Amino acid sequence: QSTNTRALELAAQGAAEGVIVLAHQQLAGRGRQGRVWHSPPGAGIYASFLLRPAATDIANIPTITLATGVAVSSAIEAVCGVQVGLKWVNDLIVDGRKLGGILCEMASHGDQPALVVGIGINICHKEADLPDDIRDKIQWLERLAPEPVDRNRLLSCLALNLENVYQQLLSEGPAQLLAQWRRRSVTLGQHVQAISGNLKVEGTAIDIKDSGALLLQLEDGTRAEINAGEVSIRMASGKYC
Ligand code: BTN
Repeated sequence: QSTNTRALELAAQGAAEGVIVLAHQQLAGRGRQGRVWHSPPGAGIYASFLLRPAATDIANIPTITLATGVAVSSAIEAVCGVQVGLKWVNDLIVDGRKLGGILCEMASHGDQPALVVGIGINICHKEADLPDDIRDKIQWLERLAPEPVDRNRLLSCLALNLENVYQQLLSEGPAQLLAQWRRRSVTLGQHVQAISGNLKVEGTAIDIKDSGALLLQLEDGTRAEINAGEVSIRMASGKYC
């Protein structure tokens, strides 16, 4: 099972905004771009939050996902004392490794949209048990933080932050939250490769737009806006992560 799938099922049955689905493990955890989210028992936080934005707020959805990154990274910093960077669109990054991810999914039943915000945070993996393809790419909190992680505190801080950024977005618009996102960004200023479907562009990430799109300066002097897909950052070694 996946907490996002379960939250989408509950939304289809009419569940109200504010429902939170938590799991100890996921047998079918899902990541962005159709990937699997490795979710062994007790190794992480697997949580999905149901929001019910008004139909008129649908245009704000891309910025809700960026704002979620701000909410999650500040909760981790407050509770665990670990500084977390944000990679567009909303990967949680520490030392170039992925500490967590966010998967937002929309569904609409009649005139009542549902937005499921799924959050995965790695807490205590066993290196030897990790699949080969992610072993060197992921990070977890108990490898970074001196103290064992108080999961209940982290979750309640996360829920509070998420509610605050969501309300702030709806009442004030995205400017303030995007400014916080920029401060936490590990993407801006870097040479990146963006892949969306069959399209691949390379350039320097110079900003995020109010819409949440990533703005790239290409080598030929033109600019491109990336709205969807996957972005990799070029490291000093020349490799992309
Ligand atoms: C990513 O690919 O970076 C997004 C990962 C999101 C994982 C979380 S874990 C809780 C929720 N349920 C899922 O199946 N996925 C999200």
